[in-house]
Amino acid sequence: MASGTLDTPAGTAPTTLAGPNGNGRAVIPARTLRTDNWRKAPILTVVLLTAWILYAVVRAFMQKWYWVEDYHYLTPFYSPCVSNGCEGDSSLFGRFIPDIPIFPFAVLTLPFLGLFRLTCYYYRRAYYRSYWGSPPACAVPDLHKSYQGESRMPGILQNSHRYFFYAAVLLSIVNTIDAILAFHSPGGFGIGLGTIILVINVILLWAYTVSCHSCRHIVGGRLRHFSKHPVRYRAWGFVSKLNTKHMELAWTTLGTLVVTDFYVMAVAAGWISDLRIVG
Ligand code: FES
Repeated sequence: MASGTLDTPAGTAPTTLAGPNGNGRAVIPARTLRTDNWRKAPILTVVLLTAWILYAVVRAFMQKWYWVEDYHYLTPFYSPCVSNGCEGDSSLFGRFIPDIPIFPFAVLTLPFLGLFRLTCYYYRRAYYRSYWGSPPACAVPDLHKSYQGESRMPGILQNSHRYFFYAAVLLSIVNTIDAILAFHSPGGFGIGLGTIILVINVILLWAYTVSCHSCRHIVGGRLRHFSKHPVRYRAWGFVSKLNTKHMELAWTTLGTLVVTDFYVMAVAAGWISDLRIVG
């Protein structure tokens, strides 16, 4: 291939490269040479993410059907429950937020969880492509004329992701406590379908959190010699394996959060009875 030109399929116009030294983007008459259904992924992302956000907002502000006193099931959307309106034993860390409609009962933690996902490297790719069209897909031009990246405001704020990771670790610990407390029945110890759902949800939340790119860097970054840090090397290897599944975990945990919340809501509202295994 000659410098400054690009091989193209038969029948398409000759392609040249723009920019200094011919190293810029390909200039072709067609908007893209992709012939597959590349619109499917961004459209699906918009539909699923929008539906999830609507569900989460409605549930966070609903302020009911979040707690099952008999079995100590607390939905993750209300954990930790810190409002004066929290029912029964749902409030593990005390009640100190006024019970008013504009404050979700987990008002202290939901913003951190939201920002953890918003600044996540995977979600950034997903919503930049799908909501912003920047770019909509690989080898498809950006919908915007200019591109400022994440080196200026407001994009530079995405670099705070590491700090939301620390918050997410703390909140995963809280969710773990919730799942342990769900081994409960009115007589003492108990296990129900809700317990299992809460446990599966928290395991997957840990997997998503630990597979975070920032976590991988915190665990194994800035080391000159892995051989001198065998424990960190092993931890880095583990996180790296999980990291390859980060996208899948991002979506799976959105699903398990909804399933967990919906199950707790259905039992709390009396729509269904919890399937009891023990107690
Ligand atoms: S990169 Fe996705 S949670 Fe950190």
